[in-house]
Amino acid sequence: MYMPSPDRYQAMPYRRTGRSGLRLPALSLGLWHNFGSDRTAETQGQILRRAFDLGITHFDLANNYGPPPGAAETAMGRALRTDFARLRDEIVVSTKAGYLMWDGPYGEWGSRKYLLGSLDQSLTRLGLDYVDIFYSHRPDPDTPLEETMGALDSAVRQGKALYVGLSNYSPEQTREAARILKELGTPLLIHQPRYSMLDRWVEDGLLTTLDDLGVGSIAYSPLEQGILSDRYLKGIPAGSRAAGSSPFLTPESVTPELVARLRALDLVASERGQTLAQMALAWVLRGGRVTSAVVGASSVAQLENSVEAVRNLEFGDEELARIEELLKTS
Ligand SMILES: NC(=O)c1ccc[n+]([C@@H]2O[C@H](COP(=O)([O-])OP(=O)(O)OC[C@H]3O[C@@H](n4cnc5c(N)ncnc54)[C@H](OP(=O)(O)O)[C@@H]3O)[C@@H](O)[C@H]2O)c1
Repeated sequence: MYMPSPDRYQAMPYRRTGRSGLRLPALSLGLWHNFGSDRTAETQGQILRRAFDLGITHFDLANNYGPPPGAAETAMGRALRTDFARLRDEIVVSTKAGYLMWDGPYGEWGSRKYLLGSLDQSLTRLGLDYVDIFYSHRPDPDTPLEETMGALDSAVRQGKALYVGLSNYSPEQTREAARILKELGTPLLIHQPRYSMLDRWVEDGLLTTLDDLGVGSIAYSPLEQGILSDRYLKGIPAGSRAAGSSPFLTPESVTPELVARLRALDLVASERGQTLAQMALAWVLRGGRVTSAVVGASSVAQLENSVEAVRNLEFGDEELARIEELLKTS
């Protein structure tokens, strides 16, 4: 029987999510990859248990995570029924709807029909009565924002979600969505944007908007799917995401120019006493502007390595300037 580590809350910082009462761990675990047919249930269980032992209380999912779509929620449901059976109140589970999940006109985007139907399916796979955070996974250009936000509000009123979030919305869409949600009486808790050293679009207005609105943020793919780690410093290793069949990270994206920059960044990291992955995570969390970074891990060793990042989240001005210089060179 799994006995969680009694020290699990010692090392991980917990940060307030915007102006809400909910605190999230500086590092959260995402189940986009590695929680479908790509890993054994045994490995998945080991990663989830180790994450919890290291103070990771937040597990991020979506309806379509797999493969096949839905498999990651089923894997998390298994953990919630077994290892985490008595730990529900120590765990924050999030899920999303927005991308293609089932055939026909009601299986994606932002209609009330899709979002609420999908949430019911997610709850069944997770074996839960409610999720902690329910997200609109992407903005829908063809559905009135009032309808999508109304569906999030309904999820909370039906007791099927405690909080609501947005993912991949622009600063303008976020501001308008937050206004509608406020009117409905369900405050926007959090935004989940892509953010890493190699993708800094959030610095162009989104983070300022979230600060203004008192909304939290959780950065996804903070390691740029593993690029910002030692994974690709010496080529593309077997078993890595770039070597596999993921359409989201292809071998062609690991160019010699990119690897040269990664090596230079790795040098800065080693001078800080960190791995490149640890520095990349600390960098996203620098200054406390981002509430949490949601990482993926294909092994317990990777997860342990990433979590060590929280030991040093501070950067000197000179270090930041050196990193800035390296990120500029494209
Ligand atoms: N809202 C959205 O639209 C959206 C989109 C994408 C992701 N997300 C969320 O963000 C989460 C994380 O995304 P991601 O998996 O792309 O994140 P990531 O943390 O940038 O990349 C994870 C991958 O990096 C490698 N890795 C992790 N830790 C490492 C370490 N310490 N040293 C060396 N390599 C390491 C592993 O690659 P290998 O597999 O090669 O070992 C791992 O699978 C997802 O699970 C999901 O919850 C949300």
